[in-house]
Amino acid sequence: MIIRRARAEDYAAFAAIEGEHPGYPAWGEKGFAAEEANRNSVTLAAEVEGRPAGFINFWILRPQVQLNTLAVGRAALRGGVASALLGKLFEYAAKSACREVDLEVNEHNAPALALYRRHGFEMVGKRPKFYNNTDAALLLRKVLPPKDL
Ligand SMILES: CC(C)(COP(=O)(O)OP(=O)(O)OC[C@H]1O[C@@H](n2cnc3c(N)ncnc32)[C@H](O)[C@@H]1OP(=O)(O)O)[C@@H](O)C(=O)NCCC(=O)NCCS
Repeated sequence: MIIRRARAEDYAAFAAIEGEHPGYPAWGEKGFAAEEANRNSVTLAAEVEGRPAGFINFWILRPQVQLNTLAVGRAALRGGVASALLGKLFEYAAKSACREVDLEVNEHNAPALALYRRHGFEMVGKRPKFYNNTDAALLLRKVLPPKDL
């Protein structure tokens, strides 16, 4: 697996991965393309056997990093792809002297909650009825240890 900066030709594959997770807020090809205009935005692809198997997008808003979207194709689930993408986000955060990583996740998204807990995120807030006016968003944060800075 390699983690690299995303390119325009990846966006169709990213949109296909989003399509494998019904209910997950999808950016679509246009959404990924629109991020190119934001100089704080970083989109990374996880490439397995020459094809995108997952992606992550985050904004570097020093002293915070905001994780906006992360998904892995069904064929590659539980293979460490999301963990590798998160690991690269932590590297970017450290290089950019950021002290914390923030994200929002649907309260019913058990795989994502397990992933983030495993990587040291803690719940710091809750937004009721955030998704489709029904499910709450949990606000999670990871404070980066000084040794990572
Ligand atoms: C959440 C998601 C990104 C995880 O991707 P992944 O590549 O399968 O995750 P990893 O293989 O790196 O998993 C690392 C750890 O997270 C936890 N985890 C991940 N998926 C899990 C699941 N379905 N059930 C329980 N724990 C899970 C486990 O602790 C796992 O370690 P293990 O496999 O050694 O037990 C993936 O399920 C996904 O794309 N979901 C749809 C999109 C989404 O919800 N994104 C989150 C945005 S907030």
